[in-house]
Amino acid sequence: MNILTGKSITKKFGNNEKNSVYALKSIDVTFEKGSFTAIMGTSGSGKSTLLNMISGLDTPTKGSLFFKDINLKELDDDELTSLRNKYYGFVFQFFHLIPVMNVMDNITLPNYFTQEKRNEHSLKKRARSILNDLGIEQLATSFPSELSGGQQQRVAIARALINQPEILLADEPTGSLDSNTSILVMEQLQRLNSEHKQTIITVTHDAKVAAYADRVLMMHDGYIVEEQTLSKLDHYENKVMYLSQLLNSIGRKNK
Ligand SMILES: Nc1ncnc2c1ncn2[C@@H]1O[C@H](COP(=O)(O)OP(=O)(O)O)[C@@H](O)[C@H]1O
Ligand SMILES: [Mg+2]
Repeated sequence: MNILTGKSITKKFGNNEKNSVYALKSIDVTFEKGSFTAIMGTSGSGKSTLLNMISGLDTPTKGSLFFKDINLKELDDDELTSLRNKYYGFVFQFFHLIPVMNVMDNITLPNYFTQEKRNEHSLKKRARSILNDLGIEQLATSFPSELSGGQQQRVAIARALINQPEILLADEPTGSLDSNTSILVMEQLQRLNSEHKQTIITVTHDAKVAAYADRVLMMHDGYIVEEQTLSKLDHYENKVMYLSQLLNSIGRKNK
């Protein structure tokens, strides 16, 4: 089943023809429930714009986006916000944790923005189980400034998961982490995908990160120029090599 479908999505920034940029050029794309997709591509190719369209954070100039069979265009702002709070979790490059709140308070915060609020006991129980899943249960009472970058990103992932979203969206989630820590974070995402069937879509320019996904979309200049399933390659190193070459060849072909 497709959890997300984009039909002929075009996004134009700027109003007058001279200064306008087409960040997305009539893109068709689908995401299957439970899949793990990496969106790669050159800088400025439209990756973040596509993610913003998928999440309903921004609206396409032309074309339609469907969450299951709900056309996002037909929702008003309040309905869109509540759909986002209910079904989507977000992880960003910079973790955006609240410095004056401890880990437990940071990750339970999104619960207060949903219609189906949990009671304190069940909320904390769920938070502890997520922290446990991510291997950071001992950090519940720590403050963000006391944590390493990798720990902060895992807290941000925990926060994204608190409302049991069907889709986890990440934009360069390892962009401010060193490579060993990036691997730890990606292993956590992969585990969420395989054990909890969480649908994950992550933007990255790093082949070592994208190799954790089972499908890769390559973007260039507002188009999806390649779509590849990675499961046919068995070793992680082979996937990394394959993706690096693909990324290079797209950069060269389109110079
Ligand atoms: N808010 C905006 N206003 C004007 N142009 C934008 C805006 N956001 C993105 N763009 C332009 O759209 C193109 C795609 O941007 P983006 O999706 O951020 O690329 P990527 O994430 O792949 O680096 C770029 O040319 C960028 O300059
Ligand atoms: Mg970007």
